[in-house]
Amino acid sequence: MGKLLYTSPVRSAQRKCAGKSIRFESTSHHSHISQIPDFSKYSPTKSISELAPYVSSTLCAYPLQSKYVNQQHYYQNKNILEKHYLTRKPHPVSLSQLAQYFDDSTTLTKQKIINSGRFVQQELVTRIAHKIHLLQTLPFNVVNNFHFSQVYESYYNIFERFRRYPTIKTIEDNEKFARFLQGILSDFNSLNLPHLIMGALECRILDLHPPEKVDEVVSSLLRARISRRLIVEEHLSITSNFNSGKKKNTLVLGDIFQECSAYEFLLGAKAMCEKFIQDMYFHGIALPEFVVDGNLGLKFYFLPLHLKYLLGELLRNSYEATMKEYIRLGLEKPEPITVTIVSNEQSFLFRISDRAGGIPHDEKTLWSFGKSKEMARKSLSNFHKLPGLQTISLYDYMYDKKAGGPTSHPYKFTSLEPISASNLPKGHKFEKPLLGLLERSSRYKLGIGLDMCRVYAEYWNGDLTVHSIKGHGTDTVLKLGNLMYHTDKLQLDKV
Ligand SMILES: Nc1ncnc2c1ncn2[C@@H]1O[C@H](COP(=O)(O)OP(=O)(O)OP(=O)(O)O)[C@@H](O)[C@H]1O
Ligand SMILES: [Mg+2]
Repeated sequence: MGKLLYTSPVRSAQRKCAGKSIRFESTSHHSHISQIPDFSKYSPTKSISELAPYVSSTLCAYPLQSKYVNQQHYYQNKNILEKHYLTRKPHPVSLSQLAQYFDDSTTLTKQKIINSGRFVQQELVTRIAHKIHLLQTLPFNVVNNFHFSQVYESYYNIFERFRRYPTIKTIEDNEKFARFLQGILSDFNSLNLPHLIMGALECRILDLHPPEKVDEVVSSLLRARISRRLIVEEHLSITSNFNSGKKKNTLVLGDIFQECSAYEFLLGAKAMCEKFIQDMYFHGIALPEFVVDGNLGLKFYFLPLHLKYLLGELLRNSYEATMKEYIRLGLEKPEPITVTIVSNEQSFLFRISDRAGGIPHDEKTLWSFGKSKEMARKSLSNFHKLPGLQTISLYDYMYDKKAGGPTSHPYKFTSLEPISASNLPKGHKFEKPLLGLLERSSRYKLGIGLDMCRVYAEYWNGDLTVHSIKGHGTDTVLKLGNLMYHTDKLQLDKV
């Protein structure tokens, strides 16, 4: 659990002067650094002897096995990250710039691939440096949280690896760089998504930071994460197109965006929801009638996995609520679920209407990661039930790698992170952690569906709203921007 992490140079310096018992001024409610976290708040059912091994490490000055957060960290950070990288600004690029790499053509040339590689390397260092800085400006107790400190360590690791990467000069250099990028996408850094969310839940439970501020930080880190992954995937995609002899990037948006049929994606989401419901209750249980109307023929360019995730999560809420209501009221059959597809030049709209009695929660907490404290506690305990995740820290992973390689690690079994590529549908290579999240069992309610979906919808120039009528039902409206309409928008400004 809690490991001490020196992050803010200011705090680090303060603490250096005054030793361990110093009280830091910060905006959080409990900001005494000398205070041992109240572990019973995490888990009222666990005995203190079970928790004791975790407590001792929180009393060390630095995380025990950290590669980056050590005696030199403050100076390193000041002289390298702050001096050289925070002074650079990230480039907010548009999707078409990304696909064309600044020479206004879709022709793939050797030079373009090399330029693209260089851009990715430099851009990622700058972007990750700014995110590290964001974490450093959080109150100590927040970034000192076990999960946030995993994210911090992982970001620093990415920062260092990208920073030290030799300049790409030839197409062969770029080959190596592409393998390096692939490694980064699939190694322990991909655990950042669950760690970020678990960190937010713990902040909520322990009152470490005002919930709206935690939401803001998590959303901002998630948005930046989407942009970084997009930049990397786009480069991998044009590199592989070039290697396979293609002379042109035929689509404006490269090939990580694909033409998606709205109707087919809805049918896919429906099938997935039905399976979840059958697993939760029993096979043969009556299922809601599923009706799709409106623009059934709609096809549009989008990231397939993002669309799958969004529709899957939202439909799942309606299915779960509909089944609960069916059982609670002893109805003859479950009420139907209707999806209406609407489109215009600028955006696409999915309205999911159910008659499941409306949303029982307060509007205010509904959109927050962790919702209420009570719900955050439940969600966190469900996260801990996801096999393999609870004990995994980056350090464990690193050490295990030395011992027997990552395959011997329980981490490969975590249901949030299907590490084996064979688990994934072909062609859907983007955002694997997201897919893991979508495929979790319905037993594990994480309380994050709506907030995650809103981050993704807003990312793609859309939004997400719910209109609930108590005692009747809910309309969940997902709007997504038309990417072909917005190709020149500086989409990747979410840095
Ligand atoms: N269509 C709906 N009808 C009734 N209640 C809903 C509906 N959609 C959401 N809710 C309520 O809002 C809550 C929050 O939904 P959200 O998707 O954010 O989290 P969750 O479903 O509890 O957990 P998760 O999706 O992470 O497993 C749900 O627990 C449910 O009570
Ligand atoms: Mg949900």
